[in-house]
Amino acid sequence: AKEPVRVLVTGAAGQIGYALVPMIARGIMLGADQPVILHMLDIPPAAEALNGVKMELVDAAFPLLKGVVATTDVVEACTGVNVAVMVGGFPRKEGMERKDVMSKNVSIYKSQASALEQHAAPNCKVLVVANPANTNALILKEFAPSIPAKNITCLTRLDHNRALGQISERLNVQVSDVKNVIIWGNHSSTQYPDVNHATVGDKPVRELVKDDEWLNGEFITTVQQRGAAIIKARKLSSALSAASAACDHIRDWVLGTPEGTWVSMGVYSDGSYDAPAGVIYSFPVTCKNGEWTIVQGLAIDEFSRKKLELTGAELTEEKELAYSCLS
Ligand code: NAI
Repeated sequence: AKEPVRVLVTGAAGQIGYALVPMIARGIMLGADQPVILHMLDIPPAAEALNGVKMELVDAAFPLLKGVVATTDVVEACTGVNVAVMVGGFPRKEGMERKDVMSKNVSIYKSQASALEQHAAPNCKVLVVANPANTNALILKEFAPSIPAKNITCLTRLDHNRALGQISERLNVQVSDVKNVIIWGNHSSTQYPDVNHATVGDKPVRELVKDDEWLNGEFITTVQQRGAAIIKARKLSSALSAASAACDHIRDWVLGTPEGTWVSMGVYSDGSYDAPAGVIYSFPVTCKNGEWTIVQGLAIDEFSRKKLELTGAELTEEKELAYSCLS
């Protein structure tokens, strides 16, 4: 039998946490033959709710779930974890300045970075979900210098999956037949959902859709604004789709992407495609043996180039804002 993998979920008493922990305990993240031990962290005001989630995990009698740690102690939460899914953060409240939200999250990610660096298992893989996801991941990287930069990523897979979903609805084809869309840049409304290399059964999506005006307009804004549309409809932000995307992200990273298929991940930029280096930028990646590689050599047209630059500039600006919160 396989040794259990320890998976940390921060913010586990929240909405996404509630959808995510049963998926992990059912093997959706790491495979149906992989036992897991869940480490759940939240803050003291949520301690009672967190304990309730733990009670439900016990009640669900998941065969793969070999243990549950539910705690408000960040060191206990991080100790020995092989995978860390960072969902906890400070939400933007009405009337709050961007800088104030950034400042709260910078201090959270700075301290959690140290705890992970000192107590997580060697080679721990980190996925940041909490917003601003790219910049929280960058702060985590900066304050955990002994964790390799390649181990620290952020979630843009939800945006990627939303783009697949829109194309599948438009063409009335199975979503599993649509592949190789790309989300470039920031997990924000400046992200660029790119279909120029996407296919359905080896045919280019652009040839099948035959409507460049839609692909260059409404399709992009629908994907960019989908989070807001969910909030409007549900009065709560995306949770089941975010949890599912977090499982997809880790599963593909650990177990590999299928031959000929890439996915989108926010990773530490080396300046590929003229993206700013030294920010966490979403690129098309393939994964093998637990490591991601940016897909190289894709043609970028003039329209796309501008969009890659715009979202890159926003990330540079967020990085500066985050650093101004540190001093
Ligand atoms: P939520 O408010 O329901 O849950 C957040 C939880 O984090 C709460 O239980 C809170 O007590 C906890 N928390 C706050 N500070 C913490 C800390 N220092 N340590 C540990 N836990 C802490 O929010 P929800 O809906 O679960 O969303 C979580 C985050 O994910 C938000 O930042 C949201 O914007 C982001 N998000 C990101 C997406 C993406 O695609 N990257 C998609 C959807 C949401």
